[in-house]
Amino acid sequence: MSDYVFRFGGEGGEGVISTGDLFTTACARSGLEIYTFRSYPAEIKGGHAMIQVRVADRNVLLSRGDEVDVLIAFNKEAYDRHVKELKPGGVLLFDNTDFLPAEDLKAVKYPVPFTKIAMEEIGVRLTKNMVALGSLSGLFGIPLDKFKELIRDKFGKKGEQVLQKNFLALEAGHRYATENLKKQESVQLKPTGRKPKLVLSGNESLCLGAIAAGLKVYAGYPITPASSILEFLAKELPKAGGVVIQTEDEIAALGVVLGASFAGKKAMTATSGPGFSLMVEMLGLAVMAELPAVIIDAQRAGPSTGMPTKAEQADLMMAIYAGHGEAPRVVLGLTSVEDCFYGIIRAFNIAETFQTPVIILSDQGLAQREASILKPETNDIDILERRKPSSEELGEYQRFKMTEDFISPMSVPGMPEGFYAATGIEHTEAGGLNYEPANHNRMMEKRSKKLEGVLKYPWAVKTYGAEHPEVAVIGWGSGEGVIREVVEQATAAGLKVGALHPKILWPFPTQIINDYLANGTRRIVVPELNYSGQFAALLKQHMKRTDIEVISMAKGGGIPWKPGEILSTVKEACLPAGGR
Ligand code: COA
Repeated sequence: MSDYVFRFGGEGGEGVISTGDLFTTACARSGLEIYTFRSYPAEIKGGHAMIQVRVADRNVLLSRGDEVDVLIAFNKEAYDRHVKELKPGGVLLFDNTDFLPAEDLKAVKYPVPFTKIAMEEIGVRLTKNMVALGSLSGLFGIPLDKFKELIRDKFGKKGEQVLQKNFLALEAGHRYATENLKKQESVQLKPTGRKPKLVLSGNESLCLGAIAAGLKVYAGYPITPASSILEFLAKELPKAGGVVIQTEDEIAALGVVLGASFAGKKAMTATSGPGFSLMVEMLGLAVMAELPAVIIDAQRAGPSTGMPTKAEQADLMMAIYAGHGEAPRVVLGLTSVEDCFYGIIRAFNIAETFQTPVIILSDQGLAQREASILKPETNDIDILERRKPSSEELGEYQRFKMTEDFISPMSVPGMPEGFYAATGIEHTEAGGLNYEPANHNRMMEKRSKKLEGVLKYPWAVKTYGAEHPEVAVIGWGSGEGVIREVVEQATAAGLKVGALHPKILWPFPTQIINDYLANGTRRIVVPELNYSGQFAALLKQHMKRTDIEVISMAKGGGIPWKPGEILSTVKEACLPAGGR
């Protein structure tokens, strides 16, 4: 079985990301499984850009992998930054116009003068990335024609002359590699003969899921890493009968969403942390007026402008608690590119069923990473709508009627006898303003209690590995894949390890987690991408058993986990008490 990590590094603006993208798609179209990870500067030009792709001929890839098998260094900085992650005996393909690697480096070294060929043979420096791609084709077997098809798709709009220069550079790189380099290792990317899967980024998958869920109004303001949701939906949503509005800011974006929802449409917005903080006042209105709304927070490293192009899971507490007064809401975590599709459908179903804002936490790592997934099936998925008033209920319509499950029938404007005022002020069941303490308490109870039903869904948490683990790994959001891979490796090593991964983060799945931990668990490892261990703190707050040691693996810094990092802590946690 082949399973390789290819990493491309170079200067932002010289086409590193495009090279990685083209390589990824070519592998996926050859029936190989792919999983990408990118980290690039917030500037348009300059700084260091990196993209890596794990490529394998297995069925599913769960993480970005550990060591790098093939490093493609466009310049010395890329070499300096990444060479320590190149595995011993790995492959270094590098631009020897720019630098030479250390003589004692234990790697197979393939020097190719990317820049010299681009300048002297093609006359365009920017084509050096195509020289690199051509040499990859020559060395590892992806046919040149596959790349040509993709280059036409990617750069075709830049004109025929640009295309032809790129083709020439690609061929020159291929020629150089086949004529000058002697293959010294066994890395080969053989087409599997399998039907290629879909290649989607997390954001694209999420947009397709939202359309399948019946999204009709999207409003948003651009912000990395959520902007591609706005861009994708601007093209695709009108084809499904919906509208996209770019508002003046995030406050207005949620305002438009709530207005559309009041008018009976499924509506959503997407942002990142700084934009979410602006939305918080409107969030209170959504809670008070019981308006369904879906809000995506593609988290990035903060606070403030922070590191816009890096991943972090640090908005958890904000998503759960931000607001004035007490404003119960639902918070979900998206776990994989595939889960982005199904997760957003679940979010819409909850928003509509429980008439509540639903906040979805994604992050830069997941939003911008690509993975190969099976074409999503929608036939078996229920698409739910909000409760409408019956003709009797419209007789003396009470928008906030107390029902057994605390969810009230919701009319839309224009419905005969369904008139009501949806304001942010405290109200009676009929929607009239009311400041009596007893009424406020009843309404608070209604808005809180109705959400208890959310945890009944069987998908609220996922579990892997041992049913009653000695060591449990409990993470959240985009950590699911890497944790699953760790549990598989730990189980294969004979350890009694299991994982629980909550998809519903709020209301907190207290009972489910306590039941899971009731039998024999000694330690819990909590990996998450933030500095302070936000989820670990929540967990401790809700755990019944106080004899279980919680090992918080909190990591800021903007880079997602590698399996090996978590596995070593899990192995240590498996040692007997006192053995750590
Ligand atoms: N022939 C023609 N054009 C080529 C090319 C080639 N061989 N190789 C690359 N290009 C073009 C790409 O199409 C792209 O053009 P576009 O900007 O019109 O899409 C451009 O050169 C950059 O190449 P790309 O591969 O996409 O990126 P890169 O590796 O050079 O890195 C980025 C540049 C991605 C770091 C930078 O452009 C960027 O987007 N930074 C992030 C900005 C951001 O989100 N900031 C946060 C704001 S808060």
